[in-house]
Amino acid sequence: MKIGIDRLGLYSPNYYVDLAELATARGVDPNKFIIGIGQSEQAVPPAAEDVVTMGANAASEFIDDIDQSKLGMVILGTETGIDASKSGAVIIQNLLQLPKHVRTYEIKQACYGGTAGLMAARDYVAAHPDRTALVIAADIARYGLASGGEVTQGAGAVAMLISADPKIMTIEDDSAFLSDDIMDFWRPVYTDLALAKGKYSTEKYIEFFQQAWAEYKQSTGLDLADFAAINCHLPYTKMGMKALKTVLPDEDEQTQARINARYAESTNYSRRIGNIYTGSLYLALISLLESSTDLHAGDRLGMFSYGSGAVGEFYSGFLQEGYATYLNKDGHLQHLNDRKKLSVAEYETMFNSKVPYAAADFATDTTLNTGKFQLTGVVDQERKYVRL
Ligand code: COA
Repeated sequence: MKIGIDRLGLYSPNYYVDLAELATARGVDPNKFIIGIGQSEQAVPPAAEDVVTMGANAASEFIDDIDQSKLGMVILGTETGIDASKSGAVIIQNLLQLPKHVRTYEIKQACYGGTAGLMAARDYVAAHPDRTALVIAADIARYGLASGGEVTQGAGAVAMLISADPKIMTIEDDSAFLSDDIMDFWRPVYTDLALAKGKYSTEKYIEFFQQAWAEYKQSTGLDLADFAAINCHLPYTKMGMKALKTVLPDEDEQTQARINARYAESTNYSRRIGNIYTGSLYLALISLLESSTDLHAGDRLGMFSYGSGAVGEFYSGFLQEGYATYLNKDGHLQHLNDRKKLSVAEYETMFNSKVPYAAADFATDTTLNTGKFQLTGVVDQERKYVRL
């Protein structure tokens, strides 16, 4: 039985900061951000947006077109959840007015949470082929103003419907994975700013890629020549290529050229949105599918997921006949082009406007554009959401 991604939705905030301008403001050569790190623009969420509103916005791209009576699971993968106990998934379920007889929960393992949700959904559909599962990967990457990680911030969400006989891409049962207890990136519960050992996390990402890929090659007998493209988790667009470069020299020239060209296409959206943690690998997939004119039904795509702390997983999927019909290339590009550019000062104000870690009531600026869903504020320590 084929199981995989039947529908894809994407949302990122309507505001961004230009990274050449940010570099100049920080006294850094803009080429470091644009060429060295590989980021040109960064999505900036107003306080009225969080993983719940962004996740609901991403799913709203297709949720009214699917048979909701088949839905058996709603999973939110996130590492920037809105509560240490209650899942954001149940709020998304309610905002989207989805059926109540559905298993609904949130998963956390840094940037791996989206893939963890996807694999749980795959197993669920394998056991219940007539059911579907909604998986949302949503995050706001925050390292702090003028921090080393600032250039790799971002915000957004990807929603995926997992089903039998998927319309876009299968998820093959061929995963190779590994986990280890390391401190390369983490976020204590008392802060909304991530802590990262930048160089160490980059080294660990590469190491996990190499080990997962070696294990995958051994267990499947496949090689890079068998793949039309490899999508990688993209904390910044240079990261996946750093890992791929360690294995590409073993390949023939044609394979190297193909993997490099498809990789470049997979980075188009991340370059403009930034890091969306759990959703970054799936943002790369959407970017590739909507940018490339060199992909065909039947092509095998590789997927490398990495979540600090750390878990790595490599798996593959086959593109399905007519997959392009189910994408929203024009809509996504128009959204990116229509966003409002913030000055560095406006970005800093928006960055600092976030709902504070405090018990006091808080009202967000609801005049800012948030798509179809909005966090209006916090009253008596309860977050209040509206569907616009
Ligand atoms: N023009 C072009 N390239 C330039 C440049 C310039 N003027 N100045 C520097 N660069 C290049 C560097 O040579 C380097 O390239 P390389 O990675 O190919 O060696 C790149 O820009 C980054 O420079 P570096 O000095 O290493 O950056 P940094 O110390 O500021 O750290 C991160 C970069 C990504 C590690 C940092 O932003 C971070 O900690 N991010 C958060 C954690 C993260 O995303 N981890 C990833 C794994 S999950």
